[in-house]
Amino acid sequence: MSADIDVLGRRLTESLARGGHFQAGWTQAVFERVPRHLFAPETVWTWDAATSRWVPVRRGRAPEDWARLVYGEDAVVTQVDDGGMGPGREATSSISAPAAVLNMLASLEPRPGDRVLEIGTGSGYHTALLCERVGEQRVTSVEIDAKLVRAAVRALADAGYRPHVVWGDGELGWPDGAPYDRLISTAAVRRVPPAWLEQVRPGGEIVTPWFPNYHGRGLIWLRMGDNGTAQGWFHGREAFMPVRGQRAERLDVRAVWEATRHEARRAASGPDLRDLDAHGEFALSVRLPGVGCYRQEHDGWFFLSEDNASWAQLSGGTAFRHGDRDLLAEVAAAVEWWRAHDRPKLFDFGVTVTKDRQDIWLRAPDRIVGAMGV
Ligand SMILES: C[S@@+](CC[C@H](N)C(=O)[O-])C[C@H]1O[C@@H](n2cnc3c(N)ncnc32)[C@H](O)[C@@H]1O
Repeated sequence: MSADIDVLGRRLTESLARGGHFQAGWTQAVFERVPRHLFAPETVWTWDAATSRWVPVRRGRAPEDWARLVYGEDAVVTQVDDGGMGPGREATSSISAPAAVLNMLASLEPRPGDRVLEIGTGSGYHTALLCERVGEQRVTSVEIDAKLVRAAVRALADAGYRPHVVWGDGELGWPDGAPYDRLISTAAVRRVPPAWLEQVRPGGEIVTPWFPNYHGRGLIWLRMGDNGTAQGWFHGREAFMPVRGQRAERLDVRAVWEATRHEARRAASGPDLRDLDAHGEFALSVRLPGVGCYRQEHDGWFFLSEDNASWAQLSGGTAFRHGDRDLLAEVAAAVEWWRAHDRPKLFDFGVTVTKDRQDIWLRAPDRIVGAMGV
């Protein structure tokens, strides 16, 4: 290990320790046994705001920049545009951000010997951490991209791990290894796939990043009941790339606004969103499923319906709306609802999932306040 990587690795560990991220069996010792750089490919990617695209950072050419990205606090993008010849705009695989990884693993709380199904092998980094905790024989990991599968199997073997890594669509789970005690996805879903409910045993647990709309984010923890229903709580607000089959059409918010702004109507006033924090934003996505909520510079807000046909903008005391839906009024009602319910935190919301429904509830399963991704 080069001195650089040593120092950067130590700095990252210290910062995670300060942030209280080593918890529930995911100790600093476990984390340190799996060096991130063993899983990072020669080329990783960094966002260039000036050209609005991902640009490569090669270990051979810029080893220090590469190491800084690999041992940074953010996710490290390891593939763009599915490894194809796209415009370099879409990150399609990454080594997840260290704090997010630890938070998710702490929510999962697998015990040594548990059978774990992981969706989204990516680089294999997270798979290796699972091997450390439950044993490599107990881990099955599914990745949809065949090239990534090959690279992950190699990296895992080089690092000393031989879990069962398979090429497939993780939305279908991996029935051959079922039933599982735990299922963890490192790709986000809007709709929890029915196969997951079938393949996790009653009493088993599912942890997955979850998105209510294109720009929304969340993390859900579910326990399987014995009737094919899973129930649990929102545990965080993680942002992950979606599973391939649930990729929303990429909304180019600016393009929608530019194409229609001359038709927008100025409203006499808009809702006051000054107290709307991240929890309030989450509540908005519960109350207005499918409406994207974009915080803009200088305290501005932009809301866009999923069909791109209606939007509302609040900026510097002025309010505009466009389209058939009055999103200004809908947002105002949703924010009022949040205030009237004592500004619930996202941790106050839970979800009940069956193969046909996802009901969101507030504080208790019988207080359903939204149905999402159904
Ligand atoms: C955030 S990355 C995974 C990070 C990974 N756990 C790591 O530590 O490197 C998400 C991964 O999910 C994969 N993926 C997307 N859709 C999938 C699907 N339907 N089934 C399995 N893998 C999928 C992507 O190809 C990508 O590699």
